[in-house]
Amino acid sequence: MGPSRLHLAQGALAALALGAAVLLQGQAPAASASSDNLTADRVENLRLGGDGVAQRRHMWTIFADMVSDEEPDFVHWQGESGVFGAEAAKRPSGIQGFQRPKSIGGDPHLIGAPIIAYNLFNPAAFAHIRAQGLYRKATLDRLQLTGGTGSVPPFPAAAIVIKTAWWPVAPEGLTAMPVWDPELNPPDPTGNPYLGWARVVAVDPTNISQGKTAAVQFVGRSFPGARRVQLEAFHHVAVDAAMAKQLAGDPESNRTAIIALGRPIAVNDQLALVGINVMTHEQQDWVWGAFWWHDRPEVGPFAADRPSTLPGPWRNYLMQAAFDAKTPRASDAGAHICFNPWLEARFPDGGQGGGTVSNCLSCHQRASYPAAPFLPVTRGAPNLREDPALAPDRLRTSFLWSLTLHAQRD
Ligand code: HEC
Repeated sequence: MGPSRLHLAQGALAALALGAAVLLQGQAPAASASSDNLTADRVENLRLGGDGVAQRRHMWTIFADMVSDEEPDFVHWQGESGVFGAEAAKRPSGIQGFQRPKSIGGDPHLIGAPIIAYNLFNPAAFAHIRAQGLYRKATLDRLQLTGGTGSVPPFPAAAIVIKTAWWPVAPEGLTAMPVWDPELNPPDPTGNPYLGWARVVAVDPTNISQGKTAAVQFVGRSFPGARRVQLEAFHHVAVDAAMAKQLAGDPESNRTAIIALGRPIAVNDQLALVGINVMTHEQQDWVWGAFWWHDRPEVGPFAADRPSTLPGPWRNYLMQAAFDAKTPRASDAGAHICFNPWLEARFPDGGQGGGTVSNCLSCHQRASYPAAPFLPVTRGAPNLREDPALAPDRLRTSFLWSLTLHAQRD
């Protein structure tokens, strides 16, 4: 950490120090028990300190680490079918391997509006789930009956799981895409799904339109002055034949395509990455981050502290971070808020507020087996006495809802 301290001491830009931290992390040797402990201590101090800026810098570093190579790391991570399938790692990795295993429990995306969403597990998370058999209901049943700790075996500190959200874009013409502007979308008690967001942009993959704005329609509404943006402003992936088949067979993805394109997904369509939810096991309760695309990525509190080293389209994502269910306090003086507009804004207000005041930890700490409903949104500390999801006879699944919802019968 010598060089980064020096920069700080000289009053150099914090961004430089952050760049050095990224470099150091990139050179770190494979995780060992003692480096795991060091990370855990540092991250626990960040949590206890409750300094939102320091927490944001840490989350940006995680992001930069993940996306700064030629390809983002998660291109090589296993998806839901690889993790929960009968035989490991038979699918292509990344979104290219999209395949939804049969789900036992509920699906959060059936609330408000559908989105093409896919969970990806880094090698450390994947190896742990497979080695411990956590993808099988039989294992969870056994642990629930016999496991003394009431929890699945702890994940390694290096484990990272992400939920990616994608918007389909036609290869030609203009595709309308909603954009989340908090000030234009006041909290709605029935939820704030993207269908009702006040503004859209016009994604233009072939630059057919020369103007700064273009006229587009979106679910029956006209937007005569939508800002035109190029596909290059997003991380994006072309749909091949295998993906088109899998996406067409997934009801939620298919419904997303009908909304965005007016037709099912086809080969040569593009998937633009609009959101990523990140959880890393640097502390027992994981560290949480939400990233989402915006056409004005330099503006506002969610743009703050972004490292200048982020390459290309990755500079266009905004961020919120959460290390704790309560702190630092939100601007309404209530418990800390951290949500992704694409994934959680749609959750309705069930008494403690809707998705726009939700917090990743507050919901994910309730992940237990057998699955309890993940709604309504809860805010702040867990209700250990009354929440059935937290009853002592249940098996806690280390904050992973997918284990309790998607573990497979043999
Ligand atoms: C009100 C509940 C709720 C909130 C709030 C919530 N999630 Fe989730 N999340 C879920 C459910 C349910 C799933 C599992 C469904 C699936 O992916 O198939 C899930 C899945 C995930 C996954 C895939 C791994 C897993 O748990 O199975 C990640 C990563 C994730 N969420 C991150 C986040 C982040 C980051 C935030 C905050 C920005 C957040 N979530 C907020 C309910 C929630």
